Amino acid sequence: MAVREIIEIGHPMLAARAQEVDVAAIATPQVQTWVDDLIDTMRAANGAGIAANQIAIPYRLFTVEVRAGNPRYPYKPQIPLTVLINPVVKFLSDATFENYEGCLSVPSLRGAVTRHLEISVAGFDRDGAHQSFEVRGYSAATFQHEYDHLDGTLFP
Ligand code: NI
Repeated sequence: MAVREIIEIGHPMLAARAQEVDVAAIATPQVQTWVDDLIDTMRAANGAGIAANQIAIPYRLFTVEVRAGNPRYPYKPQIPLTVLINPVVKFLSDATFENYEGCLSVPSLRGAVTRHLEISVAGFDRDGAHQSFEVRGYSAATFQHEYDHLDGTLFP
C-alpha cells in the first residue's frame, strides 16, 4: 500500500484509453496492490475519486469515495468506498445538468461539465464479484468523471 504520484494533464497516459483488466487476475497481488494504492492516493489527496491511469497504471479501474467534510468537495453527498474494475456506465435518461468539477490531474482548475443525471454503473469489485447499481445527481457526475479518465478524457 502506498500513496503514489498523481500524473498531470499533458502526460500521454491521461490521454489514452486504458486496457481491460483480466478478471481472472483480480485476486493477484498486482491488482490488489493497484486497488490499495488507488485508495491510499485518493484519500491522501482528498479526491472524490481516482482512476488508475492517474497514478500511471494504464488499466480500467477506479475508486470513488466521498466522506463527510471532504475539503475539496464539501457540498457532495457521501459515497461509500467503491472499487470498480472494468466499469461500464450507461445513461438512464436524456436528463443532464451542469456539474462544477475539479480533477487531481488538473491542478487549480475548476469548470462546468454537462453530465447525465441518472446512470447505471456496473463492474467488478476487488473480490471479483460483479456489481451493478444506479446513481443520480452529483454522485453520478463523480462516476462519469472517473469513467472518462479510462477513455483518456479529462474534464476540460
Ligand atoms: Ni479527475
